[in-house]
Amino acid sequence: MPSATDDDATEQTVTPWDVEGADGGGIDYAKLVRDFGCSTIENGMIERIERLTGTRAHPFLRRGQFFAHRELDVILNAYEKGERFYLYTGRGPSSESLHLGHLIPFHFTKWLQDAFKVPLVIQLTDDEKFLWKDLELEECERLARENAKDIIACGFDPKRTFIFSDVSYMSTPMYKNMMKIAKCVTLNQVKGIFGFTGESNIGQVGFPPTQAAPSFPDCFPHMFGESKTSLRCLIPCAIDQDPYFRMTRDVAPRIGGYKPALIESRFFPALKGENGKMSASDATSAIYVTDTPKEIKSKVNKYAFSGGQQTVEDHRRLGGNLDTDISWKWLNFFLDDDEELAKIGEEYSSGRMLSGEIKAKLIDVLTPICVGHQEARAKVTDELIDEFMSTRPRVYASLFGDMGD
Ligand code: TRP
Repeated sequence: MPSATDDDATEQTVTPWDVEGADGGGIDYAKLVRDFGCSTIENGMIERIERLTGTRAHPFLRRGQFFAHRELDVILNAYEKGERFYLYTGRGPSSESLHLGHLIPFHFTKWLQDAFKVPLVIQLTDDEKFLWKDLELEECERLARENAKDIIACGFDPKRTFIFSDVSYMSTPMYKNMMKIAKCVTLNQVKGIFGFTGESNIGQVGFPPTQAAPSFPDCFPHMFGESKTSLRCLIPCAIDQDPYFRMTRDVAPRIGGYKPALIESRFFPALKGENGKMSASDATSAIYVTDTPKEIKSKVNKYAFSGGQQTVEDHRRLGGNLDTDISWKWLNFFLDDDEELAKIGEEYSSGRMLSGEIKAKLIDVLTPICVGHQEARAKVTDELIDEFMSTRPRVYASLFGDMGD
């Protein structure tokens, strides 16, 4: 509780729209898990996923970037018995250019889709951005389509993936669910969950059902048919989205649906140092997927916060600080090879590896990721976007399992 004596001391805030550590510091994830009431993913669960899918766990899972869940065990139990599920994730299309942090949930979701061989729906909340940002609705719709290109470039399979923008898909089946959900939630409840105040516009207050609804399979009759319990839903997302789905889980039994399960990630640290999320509006705080090799090199060298010491002599003696060094943190996300990563940690923290050297390694790792993304995005045609976004019936058999190609 704040008191007169600790005026400046602030608690951490994590809402879907605002992420800030206590007193401007880093995020306390253990506290977040306690406050939200979700669970930590233990090693046993990761091993179980590897056993069930016959696939080595993605580095984001092995290294704890996706670290929390709700009822993932229920999904795994059902899967083990031969029951299928679908994945649901999304993005608020607020900017033209994505940064590397934006790709993380999509790379991870692609891995989940391939490992479990399950269908996926991706929501583009153009209406959410319209309600929260100073943008025209038509501009938000345009950004949604631009962002769809980046998402498609992550390699999803159009046979088992549906991408939709709220504004264009807000036709009947989904809208009915929104109304049912909305009716179950009072203004006092959303004030408690999301921190809305008397100043929030009523579009904002009314938005949460729009993000809740895709958790129920009957929103997508062209893929999953008309039953609300035909499939369970698993949602990969960053942990700031948890309030939406806490609300959804609360409502689910009352409208006759399964509670969606969640698998939740930490935030990707900003280039200039860890606290909260990377900002899309500060060009020096992020590496964009559109950056050229030259820009990547110069941004990393200039801005990546270094945990190295002031002088080479001090560095050799004291070593680099892995708790603050952004190159090290980013390598944990993007360098696949566990052994090489461990070796770099050793070398850098002991002072044998210098700050310039770990940055050079990061540049080597990031450059092909961005270049590869740009090449893949350039190949995404308008026809391909339409294929992903069309409501043509998907062949049910090709939504699950091996498709023999
Ligand atoms: N609100 C999210 C954002 O602003 C977008 C989103 C919609 C989402 N549905 C989702 C994210 C489901 C994760 C899972 O980015």
